[in-house]
This record gives sequence, C-alpha cells and structure tokens, in this order.
Amino acid sequence: MGRLQKILIPFAGLVLAFWFYSAREDFKPEMLKGKRVIVTGASSGIGEQMAYHLAQMGSHLLITARTEAKLQKVVARCLELGAASAQHVSGSMEDTAFAEHVVKEAEELLGGLDMLILNHIGSSYFHYFDGDVGHVRKLLETNFLSYVAMTVSALPMLKESGGSIVVVSSMAGKVGFPFTVPYSATKFALDGFFSSLRQEFALQNTNISITLCILGFINTDSAMKAAADVVLIPPAPKEECALEIIKGGALRQREVYYKYATIKFSLLLRDWAADLLDYLIRREYNLENLEKK
Ligand SMILES: NC(=O)c1ccc[n+]([C@@H]2O[C@H](COP(=O)([O-])OP(=O)(O)OC[C@H]3O[C@@H](n4cnc5c(N)ncnc54)[C@H](OP(=O)(O)O)[C@@H]3O)[C@@H](O)[C@H]2O)c1
Repeated sequence: MGRLQKILIPFAGLVLAFWFYSAREDFKPEMLKGKRVIVTGASSGIGEQMAYHLAQMGSHLLITARTEAKLQKVVARCLELGAASAQHVSGSMEDTAFAEHVVKEAEELLGGLDMLILNHIGSSYFHYFDGDVGHVRKLLETNFLSYVAMTVSALPMLKESGGSIVVVSSMAGKVGFPFTVPYSATKFALDGFFSSLRQEFALQNTNISITLCILGFINTDSAMKAAADVVLIPPAPKEECALEIIKGGALRQREVYYKYATIKFSLLLRDWAADLLDYLIRREYNLENLEKK
C-alpha cells in the first residue's frame, strides 16, 4: 500500500465518523411548542415574520421594538395564529437599561426563557462612509451593546433551561461590503463576541447554544427602500428567511446561511480568493442610482 493510501484511508474514515456522529436531527415545529421566546425588532421585517412562525408553532412570545402600535398588531396576529401567549414591551435598544428591562419582563411574564432571538437594528444610511464617528458609536450601542446586555441578563434563565441564543447577522458581518460601513462594523462585532462566547461555553460545559445567522439581501420593506434600486441581486423572501433562522436556532446550529448556496459559496471565495470576491461584490451595485440618492 502506497504512503498516500496509508494517509488517505484513515483520513476518509475520520471524516465519515465525524459526519456520522454530527448528523443533524430533523427540525419539527413541535420543538418550539410551549417554549418561552423573546424576539427583538419584531414590529416589522424578519422579526415580525419570526413572531408569526413561532406563534403557529405554539410558543410563548415576548416581542419588542420601539413602535407600540405596530407591536400591538403583531401580538394580536400572533394570538390568532395560535401562540400559547403573546405580549410586548416597547422601547429603544439605544439604551442598554431598556435591553436589560426586556429580559426582566420575560422573567416576570414568562417565568423563564428558552430562546433569545436578537434581531433588531437601528437605522443607518446606505451610501459612502460619511465620517460621522457619533453615528458609528450610536449604532454600536443599538446593534451590538444591547445584544451583549440582553445576553448577560438572560444567562441565568438560559442556563436553567439549557436554552438558545440566536443572533441575526449579515454577509456584511463576514465580508467587506461598500455603503454599509457603520452597520458592517456592528455585525463583525457580533461575530467576534458571540463566536468567542461559544468557545467559553464549550470549555465551561455551559449548555446554551449560540446560532449566528448570516443573511444575504432579504425583501423587507426597510431593506427594499434603502437598497432595491442600487443592489443588482434579487432579494430573498423574508418569510422563508425567518423560518430558516428559527430552524437553525431550534437545532442548535452554530451558523445559519440564508440563502445557503450563495452565502456558502461567497464564504469559500472569501477564504480562497478574497480579491476576486471583493471584485464580484463591487459589480453588484448600480452606482448611478446610488449617486441619485
Ligand atoms: N433585510 C435584509 O436585507 C437583511 C440582510 C442581512 C441581514 N439582515 C438582518 O436581519 C435583521 C432584521 O432586518 P430587517 O430587514 O427585518 O429590519 P427592519 O424591517 O428594519 O426591522 C428592524 C426592527 O428593529 C426595530 N428597531 C429599529 N430601531 C430600534 C431601536 N433603536 N430599538 C429597538 N428596536 C429598534 C424596528 O422597529 P421600530 O422601528 O418599531 O423600533 C424593527 O422592528 C437585522 O439584524 C438585519 O441586520 C437583514
């Protein structure tokens, strides 16, 4: 037997064993039945769709965002769809005290927590970086620090339930995209914080899963308004996106990619041909329309 075969056969065995033992459980909607879930940024977009899916699966929901009237409508719809319970708390995640308050509300209203879905984002601009350091700081507070504050406050309840943290991020948190510099910085920060925390959980045998969701362009109203006339790639549907995030969280996956093939291929290119990926990304914009904004 050649030396190459001596190496290849055990290696193939190892890969097969790893694949076999890490084979994933199938998702079943019953996994969420009766689970106590917080969804942030649930007054619109992907967060709203996640609330509806969870309601249909029979979860207890606590949703949050700033706009009271929209939250009331989402709660009413969740109850119609079959949520075990649905409540809301309104306020701004610019203030970490509010982030902590939401978790305390979950403790009082739900009596514990099984899944923390961190999804909200503060508004930013879609254009060349304007040099406004204050805006970067404010966005870090809303998009990053409030995620940290909610996680810290929720840890005792999540430890008790062996629960899950689901962090909604973006391709702009893995790869450099133009026109979203402050937003992109906040999403890279989430990857650093939560991927490191996942390692510490593993070392300390903390039974809390962390799922980081890497999304491409999704057809939410806000994303379409900000970028539809500039981004040349077609957006993916928010309803399906929301379901994929919930599935990934329930299955305790480390990362969710939506849509899978496009994101996975881009991440492979990032690692093997970063300049080529950067070039391809720059070709995905209509710069004439950007200048008209
Ligand atoms: N859509 C995309 O193309 C896309 C692509 C990649 C990643 N993502 C990620 O997916 C997630 C959801 O995006 P989306 O498109 O669904 O966004 P969206 O429709 O704009 O929803 C954002 C949510 O956050 C809330 N929010 C805004 N400012 C807030 C604040 N200061 N404090 C508390 N809540 C606040 C909004 O409600 P109020 O205004 O009522 O507060 C709303 O419920 C985000 O994490 C985003 O980065 C989206």
